[in-house]
Amino acid sequence: MNTQVCIIGAGPAGLLLGHLLRAEGIECVVLERQTGDYVLGRIRAGVLETITVDLMERLGLDGRMKEEGLWHDGFNLADGERLIRIDMADLVGSRVMVYGQTEITRDLMDACEERDLEVIYEAQDVTLHDVEGDAPYVTYSKDGAEYRIDCRMIAGCDGFYGPSRQAIPASVGKEYERVYPFGWLGILADVPPCNHELIYANHERGFALASMRSTTRSRYYIDVPLTEKIEDWPDERVWDELAVRLGAEAAESMVRGPSIEKSIAPLRSYVFAPMRHGSLMLCGDAAHIVPPTGAKGLNLAASDVHYAAEALTALFKHADNDAVVRYSDKALARVWKSERFSWSLTNLMHRFPEDGPFERAMQVAELDYIANSRAAQTSIAENYVGLKV
Ligand code: APR
Ligand code: PHB
Repeated sequence: MNTQVCIIGAGPAGLLLGHLLRAEGIECVVLERQTGDYVLGRIRAGVLETITVDLMERLGLDGRMKEEGLWHDGFNLADGERLIRIDMADLVGSRVMVYGQTEITRDLMDACEERDLEVIYEAQDVTLHDVEGDAPYVTYSKDGAEYRIDCRMIAGCDGFYGPSRQAIPASVGKEYERVYPFGWLGILADVPPCNHELIYANHERGFALASMRSTTRSRYYIDVPLTEKIEDWPDERVWDELAVRLGAEAAESMVRGPSIEKSIAPLRSYVFAPMRHGSLMLCGDAAHIVPPTGAKGLNLAASDVHYAAEALTALFKHADNDAVVRYSDKALARVWKSERFSWSLTNLMHRFPEDGPFERAMQVAELDYIANSRAAQTSIAENYVGLKV
C-alpha cells in the first residue's frame, strides 16, 4: 500500500490527526495494535481546553460534545480550611469543557467511515523503517499475513510505550524525566458530583480530586503510595478517605455508590526532544507525559496534532517543507509550558514523603498567596484553560 502519511496509533492523537489530514484531502492510514473496543475501554481525564474544543468544532464533530458536555467557568483548590475558587470566566474570559476523553475518542472513531479515514485495528509487530530519508515505510502483520505501507511521512501517535519514539536513535534524542513517589487511585461511579465544579484538595492525609463525567457520573481520585494494591481499597475505604480529604462541605454532598472502574495510575513528567527526526513526527504521549494534575495530557496531544497537521498540510499542498522542520521547536515550546504547569500544580497539591516542615510551609504560603491575589489566580486560570497555540 502507498499513502502520504502513515499514522501509528488510534488514540485521540492519531484519530484527531487523521481527521485533520483527511479534511485537507491528504491521504493517510492509521495503524492500531488493539481493537476499537479496547481503545474505548481506557478511562482517562475529561477536561478539555479551548484548543481541543476548537479542533472538534473545526472538524464538525462537536455535536455530541456540545449537547452532553458541561462548560465549567471555574474550579477550586482546597487547602483543608477553605475553597479557593479560580474563576476562569472572570479572570481570563474563557472556560473549559468537561467531556470524557473516551467520548472524544468515540466521536472521532464513529466519524471514520463517513470521512474516509482508514483505521487498521489489530495491526501486530508495527515496525518503522528508513525514517531518516524521504521514503520511509512501515511493516506490520495481521491475521498471519505481512503488510508494508510506503509513505512520505510517519506520524508516531502510539503513546508512551509505542515503537515510534524507539525508532529515533538514542544519540539524536534527549529524555527529561521526573517520576513521582505516589500514584492516583481513581474511582468512577454513577452518582451525582459533590460539587458543580472540580475540587483539587491538599489535605494532611494527602491529595484528593473531585471530578465528573456528567451530572450523574462522578470521577474521584486520591493519591496513594505506589506500593498500595487496589485489592486493599474496597469502595467504602475510598469514599471514607475522599470524605476526609475533600473537607466537610464536599463530604456532606458526596453521594457514595458502587465503583464502575477503580485503578491506580503512576504519575510521571517526561519529555523526549526533538519531536521530529527525518520523516517521523511524534505527537501526544509518544513524545511526552504529564502528571494528571491539571488534565493536560489529551490537550497537549491536541496542540501537537494541530501543529503537525499544519506542517503536513504545508508539505503536501504547498510543497513547503519548512513547517515540518520547525514542528519540533514549535510543539515543544508549548509542551514545556504545560509540563511546567502540571508539575507545579502537582507540587502544590500533594504531600511528598521527603518533605519537611519547610516544604510544607511553602505550600501553605503559596496557597494563601493564591487565595488573596488576583494576579496569581489569573496565571493559574490562563494555564488551566490552555495557553494559546
Ligand atoms: N502499534 C500500533 N499502535 C500502537 C502500538 C503499536 N506497537 N503501541 C501503542 N499503540 C496504540 C495504543 O494502543 C493506543 O491506542 O497507540 C495509541 C496511543 O494512544 P494513547 O496512549 O491514548 O496516546 P495519545 O493518543 O497520544 O493520547 C494522548 O490521551 O489517551 C490519553 O493519556 C493519554 O492523555 C493522553 C492523551
Ligand atoms: C478527570 O476527570 O478524570 C480528571 C479531571 C481533572 C484532572 C485529572 C483528571 O486534573
